[in-house]
Amino acid sequence: MSLNLSSHMSSMDLLVTLLLLASPVALAKSSPSLPAIFTFGDSIFDAGNNHFNKNCTAQADFPPYGSSFFHQPTGRFTNGRTVADFISQFIGLPLQKPFLELHIQIMNGTLKRFPSNGINFASAGSGFLLDTNKDMRVTPIQTQLQQFQTLVEQNKIEKSIIQESLFLLESGSNDIFNYFLPFQTTTLSPDDYVDSILTQVNKTIDQIYKLGARRIAIFSLGPVGCVPARALLPNAPTNKCFGKMNVMAKKYNRRLEDIVNIIPTKYPGSIAVFGAVYAITHRFQTYPARYGFSDVSNACCGGGTLGGLKQCGREGYKICNNPNEFMFWDFYHPTERTYHLMSKALWNGNKNKIRPFNLMALATNFTF
Ligand SMILES: *[C@@H]1O[C@H](CO)[C@@H](O)[C@H](O)[C@H]1NC(C)=O
Ligand SMILES: *[C@@H]1O[C@H](CO)[C@@H](O)[C@H](O)[C@H]1NC(C)=O
Ligand SMILES: *[C@@H]1O[C@H](CO)[C@@H](O)[C@H](O)[C@H]1NC(C)=O
Repeated sequence: MSLNLSSHMSSMDLLVTLLLLASPVALAKSSPSLPAIFTFGDSIFDAGNNHFNKNCTAQADFPPYGSSFFHQPTGRFTNGRTVADFISQFIGLPLQKPFLELHIQIMNGTLKRFPSNGINFASAGSGFLLDTNKDMRVTPIQTQLQQFQTLVEQNKIEKSIIQESLFLLESGSNDIFNYFLPFQTTTLSPDDYVDSILTQVNKTIDQIYKLGARRIAIFSLGPVGCVPARALLPNAPTNKCFGKMNVMAKKYNRRLEDIVNIIPTKYPGSIAVFGAVYAITHRFQTYPARYGFSDVSNACCGGGTLGGLKQCGREGYKICNNPNEFMFWDFYHPTERTYHLMSKALWNGNKNKIRPFNLMALATNFTF
């Protein structure tokens, strides 16, 4: 089985049409050649993989998840689309389906081949570290890569498509949050713990390059110490963000950017961008009104202090009237509106938001 090329072909048809219509000046700028997106990471990308993994207890497949856009739960940990969904829409591709859904459909014969627009492998709750939320049976990034590797080795995805595709990579928030759990057993210092995450980042990049990835976008962590779920931690303040956790996230982010900067020289023929999600999110918190937020601290949907003690949708939860004015949807996750603003910044933002160039440039200005 090989990747269905039909949507690629139709975008070629579109290109031909554009060639006939457009002026030569406009032509020089456009070279649409991004057939697919392959996504790896955690909840900011997960389109429902956990939902199709019956062993996994980290779930958002019940109301009111999905209520603002899909009008039903999809397994996404927000009220609508995730960052991966928005980026796919900006590029003009249909949303990538969860790998596990496609896998089940192929096994039971309802689907003949993997779709041509890419695959979403992300699993909410997972991290770069194998132990992160292992008891909830989330799918760590290494396993996500193995799933992709199997498809590549079985020629279920064409090599030429992989080379032109966008690879989205984001994880680590759960690793860092879990470092502060009261029953955490690691003996590593914060610096050594960050190091252990970055070792896995390096391995991940190495592996996706070997599997053919050439166009890579890696996102920093947001201010993890500000999530409403910090109210679950005995040592975290609830009247302000958890400083120690944010210090660790910023350390990780700085070193992650160094790794991203080296990618084009370390891996010939590749390009990579660093999405500064921390800086993007920090602006929302600093100037909430400018972005239309009335609340950047509490979960719109949840329960207890900050709405952070109970998962949205669980017995006794409360929900706000205006999710669009809240930065956080549930105890850990942003609202669709926050994801939309974040995605726009990553798509066409300046160098404070994504560097050395934005996703729009990455999607259109390079051919392989
Ligand atoms: C769920 O667990 C069973 C038993 O451990 C295992 O055989 C199966 O592969 C798991 N399913 C997934 C989707 O991980
Ligand atoms: C195949 O799996 C999909 C996804 O779980 C399900 O929706 C569909 O009903 C299944 N079809 C058959 C024929 O079992
Ligand atoms: C990751 O790889 C970079 C080179 O790309 C290297 O400088 C750095 O030390 C590595 N980090 C870890 C933690 O292995």
